[in-house]
Amino acid sequence: MTRTKLSLAAAALLAAAACSQGSETQAGADAPGRALFASICGACHMAAPPGSAAAKMRTIGPNLWGVVGRPSAATDFDYSPAMRAARLVWDEKTLDEFLTNPQKLVPNTRMALAGLDDPEQRKAIIDYLKTQK
Ligand code: HEC
Repeated sequence: MTRTKLSLAAAALLAAAACSQGSETQAGADAPGRALFASICGACHMAAPPGSAAAKMRTIGPNLWGVVGRPSAATDFDYSPAMRAARLVWDEKTLDEFLTNPQKLVPNTRMALAGLDDPEQRKAIIDYLKTQK
C-alpha cells in the first residue's frame, strides 16, 4: 500500500514536471537540446508557433520559433538598435558564434547571456531549434 502511494506520488510529480514544459511542442520533444534550451534559454525565450497561446505570452527575448534560417530581428519583438543593425541570417554558424559570445557577434545586444563555452551544448541547442519550426 505504502509503496503504491509512493509510486503514485512519483507519477504525479513526473506529470507535473512534464506539464511545466507547457510551451514545448511535440516536434523535438526528445531532442537532447530540449532540456538545455529550457534551462538556459527558457528564462527569456520560448519557441512557440505564431498564433499559439504560448506565443502570446510576454517574454524577455524574442520567440525563437523558426529562427534557424531566419534573418536577425525579423519578429515583432522590440529589438535593440544593435540587433536591428546586425543584418545576420541565423544559420548554424552565426548561431554558434552568437551563443559562444553574444556581445562579440552583436556588440551592445540586449541579450544578457555571457555565452556558452561548451561546443556540444551549443550544437545540441541549435539542433533542437532546427526542429522548432
Ligand atoms: C537573460 C535573457 C536571455 C537569455 C538567457 C537568452 N536570451 Fe536570447 N535574447 C534575449 C534578448 C533580450 C534578445 C534580443 C536582443 C536584442 O534585441 O539585442 C535575444 C535574442 C536572441 C536571438 C536573436 C533572435 C532574432 O529574432 O533575431 C537568438 C537567436 C537568441 N536570443 C538565442 C538564444 C539562445 C539559444 C539562448 C540560450 C542558449 C538565449 N538566447 C538565452 C534574451 C535572452
